[in-house]
Amino acid sequence: MKVFGICCGRKGGNTEIMMQDVFAGVKSIDPDADCSFVNLQDAHIKSCIGCETCMTKHVAGDYDFRCVHGINQDHFYFIEQQMRAADAIIVSAPAYNLLPPGIMIRFLNKLHASSDYRHVTQGVDICKIGACFSIGGTDWTDFIPNAMRMITMELVGVYDGVVDSVHFDFQTSKGAVILDERIAPRMRQMGETVAKAVQLKKETGKNAPYVGMEGICDYCHCNMLRVNPDGTAYCPQCNVKATVEVEDGKVKVSFKPEDLEKSRWAPYGQELHMRNIGLGHKKAAEGAETIKKVYNESYKDKISESRLAFPELK
Ligand SMILES: Cc1cc2nc3c(=O)[nH]c(=O)nc-3n(C[C@H](O)[C@H](O)[C@H](O)COP(=O)(O)O)c2cc1C
Repeated sequence: MKVFGICCGRKGGNTEIMMQDVFAGVKSIDPDADCSFVNLQDAHIKSCIGCETCMTKHVAGDYDFRCVHGINQDHFYFIEQQMRAADAIIVSAPAYNLLPPGIMIRFLNKLHASSDYRHVTQGVDICKIGACFSIGGTDWTDFIPNAMRMITMELVGVYDGVVDSVHFDFQTSKGAVILDERIAPRMRQMGETVAKAVQLKKETGKNAPYVGMEGICDYCHCNMLRVNPDGTAYCPQCNVKATVEVEDGKVKVSFKPEDLEKSRWAPYGQELHMRNIGLGHKKAAEGAETIKKVYNESYKDKISESRLAFPELK
């Protein structure tokens, strides 16, 4: 089996160390496993410029497109090829400002432009196996474990493929994880879980159950809630309506099966999303004359005058 890891922390730092323990766990189940990783800090990834060329092609059912950046103009294509060849993808990140580092998001933003990568992974039957882990220097980390599962889901196709996730706080210095005796065994366990899930998928076509950190959402395991002004509550990641009760001063959250089916990541939500994108483009096409007129009369010059030009870099 091929297991591909993605790191984005310091070279030789905590997440790279933890990835080696995950690989050791994989190899304890499959000694011939091919395990390798990239550190996005080494990668040159051109930022998505929001041209929406890939989106437009995707909406039109064209899965043969590539990013306007081209396939050899940055390292995205190389990483994409590693992901295509992998049975499992392990995503890792340290917390930067409560979130995964920008380079991870920059990489994720390019996934739209990956030809048919999503088309060949977005399904319970065709998804890859995935797992993720994150750490924080302190406990300023509320968003990252949720974001990591979402990123992993995007890379493997669907949440059914994400079998494990874990997060550790208070891992500040380079190499700190070596001093925390909980970490190496937990990471090896993740490797074993992933390897067994790959074997299960190859043998039966089924996805292994999720065994990672518990959250409150039964769909994405997110541990957060969005409370709307009207008092309704939703999983902010899935947009699934939550039922909230308070018992003995404690908040109890549950999700109805019929609401879970409306997760934005389920077929229902995906179709709705694509339809909404189509409707947005239709509205803009219909109002193209107005947009052009108002833009030229009221915004064009102001934007040009107030957007600062960057100085030349030496
Ligand atoms: C720019 C930057 C922002 C950071 N922001 C946070 C943060 O919001 N919360 C936190 O707990 N740790 C934060 N950290 C600390 C790192 O998560 C921590 O040092 C971690 O051990 C780095 O992992 P690595 O060795 O794999 O690079 C930040 C570090 C950097 C460099």
